[in-house]
Order: sequence, then structure tokens, then C-alpha cells
Amino acid sequence: MKKTVLTGITTTGTPHLGNYVGAIRPAIRASQHPDSRAFYFLADYHALIKCHEPEHVHRSTLEIAATWLALGLNTDNVTFYRQSDVPEITELAWLLSCMTAKGLMNRAHAYKAAVQANEEAGDLDPDKGITMGLFSYPVLMAADILMFGATHVPVGRDQIQHVEMARDIAQRFNHHFGELFVLPEAVVEDDVAVLQGLDGRKMSKSYNNTIPLFLPPKQLQKSINKIVTNLLEPGQPKDPETSTVFQVWRAFATPEQTAEMRREFAAGIAWGEAKKRLCALIDSEIAEARERYEILLANPAAIEAELQKGASKARAIASPFMQRLRAAVGIRPLG
Ligand code: TRP
Repeated sequence: MKKTVLTGITTTGTPHLGNYVGAIRPAIRASQHPDSRAFYFLADYHALIKCHEPEHVHRSTLEIAATWLALGLNTDNVTFYRQSDVPEITELAWLLSCMTAKGLMNRAHAYKAAVQANEEAGDLDPDKGITMGLFSYPVLMAADILMFGATHVPVGRDQIQHVEMARDIAQRFNHHFGELFVLPEAVVEDDVAVLQGLDGRKMSKSYNNTIPLFLPPKQLQKSINKIVTNLLEPGQPKDPETSTVFQVWRAFATPEQTAEMRREFAAGIAWGEAKKRLCALIDSEIAEARERYEILLANPAAIEAELQKGASKARAIASPFMQRLRAAVGIRPLG
């Protein structure tokens, strides 16, 4: 079976350095190989689970699409589309829902965390504020994955459980209706850095500690200056291993540059100086893409055209497969 990579990006928020290093950069590099079979999509229906602000969802879709294209995603080699442009996915989500044990969804981390938050707040209703979207979110994600026969699903650690659920659901469906789905596996890249954010915790929009990817250089410097450091003075040796500045440096530097910065830390480089160099290093990697990003943002129709191209490639697969699935469950013409 051919290796098929698939991953989705929820369209809430603006891409940050953590997204870039952990997900976007490796995916774009992989897309340069002509024999890669990969699906990357904007999970805009997933965005509605967390965000009920239309302008925000819309803007984020634009920014994320522009980011991937500006960074050089090769859309001839891979299929790049918007989830909502492939209505077969939500249709499949229903078929899967009807084969998914409610008890399985009860165990999903995102749902359990929301229940726990209610209990800790002393709410009488443990399901307060929890929508069916949040509850059954792993089913929609399973539909995303199973629709395209994904074998490898690159995700963050928090998403492993969801990929395993997709596998469980697929197995149950196959067992009942025949071998229709490929069983997917989560891939967590251990050699890809999980970037730390401004406060030293994992860089994440939910912690509000991110450095946006395409800030203009001056603002990028300002944001980098907010990385929390200790109070060691210039001239005092500093420990690279506990430093977010060093950790981010390493994600952008060559091995030689990393060794050089390690020596600078030992020699007591001032935090201000280290941050200045970090900004220059990041800028040297992304400056050209930033220019393309600005041009794309000013021309949303070009982005839309790319997404439409992706949607027709995706539907060319999804639509006949959905026909087969419908037939398999007994929904087919009568004569
Ligand atoms: N839920 C994922 C996240 O929040 C995004 C996502 C949606 C996804 N559908 C997917 C990831 C399918 C991988 C495969 O990060």
C-alpha cells in the first residue's frame, strides 16, 4: 500500500513559529518530492468547534492558506484543500457516527478536559457549555483521515488519541461492512522540535505565548524580546539547555551555528544581543516568504483558485469513494 500522508490545520489563529517548525516546514519540504502522496487541508469545520466569530474563522483561513503557499508548498505534488469544499467529508462523518460507540467519545481528552473544568468550577451540569461539535469532534477527524486512505498522520502529541480513535472506528466499520478503510497511524516526529513559547511553555495559541511567523522585522524583534530569560548579566555564562532563546535558535540554525551560539552562551553573551541575533537568523530564513505572503494576502482570489484546484483533486477521490460507502451501508438506487 502506498504511503499516504494527511494532516489538517484548524483555522483559528495566525500561524506562529511553533506551527512553522513543528508542522509547516517539514510538510512543505516533503511536498517537494514528486512521489509524495500527501493531503494537507484547512480544517475549517473543526474551527467552528472552538470559534463562533465568522470574521476570525474567515481571516484565519486566508492567513493559513497564504502561509503555506508563500512558503513554497508544491500544490502539483500534494493535494491542498479546504475541508468545507469537500462535502463528502461531513457526509462520511455521519456514516461513522452511526458506527461509533458513544462510550468511545466519552473518553476523548478534549471532552474529558471540558467536563473536568466544569466539575472543578463546581457546576452542577458537567456538560455545561459543551456542544455536540466538541463531543463528536474525533468522528469528524476520523472522516478527514479515512476519506483519503491516509496511512500516516503527522500530529502533535495531543492528537494521537484522535488518530487511534479513527483507527478503532475504521476497524469496526470494516468488520461490519467489508474492508473499505485503510487503518491510519499517528506519526509524532521526535526529531522535529516542539518549540517553546515566550514563557518557556510549549508555544501554543491556547497559552497566548506565540511569536507570529510573518511579523514585519521590527515587530518580530519586539516579540522575540519578550522571551522570558533569567537575570544573568552580560559576561556571566548562561545555560543553553534551559534557555528558550537557545532552543528557538537551534530550530533555525545549522549545526555549526548552534555550536557557535553554545560557545557564545558559555562566554556570557548578553540576552539582548542573543535576541538580536536570533531575530536576524529567523528573518534570513523567512524574509522572502514574508514578501510572497504579503502579496498573496493582497490577492485572495489567487489563494481561492489554489484551494479550488485542491478541492477538485480531493473530490475526484472523495466522491466515488462516498458512492461505494453509501452502497456498502445499503443506500443505493432501487432499480
Ligand atoms: N484536530 C487537529 C488539531 O487540532 C486538526 C485536524 C483536523 C486534523 N482533522 C485532522 C489533524 C485530521 C490530522 C488529521 O490539531
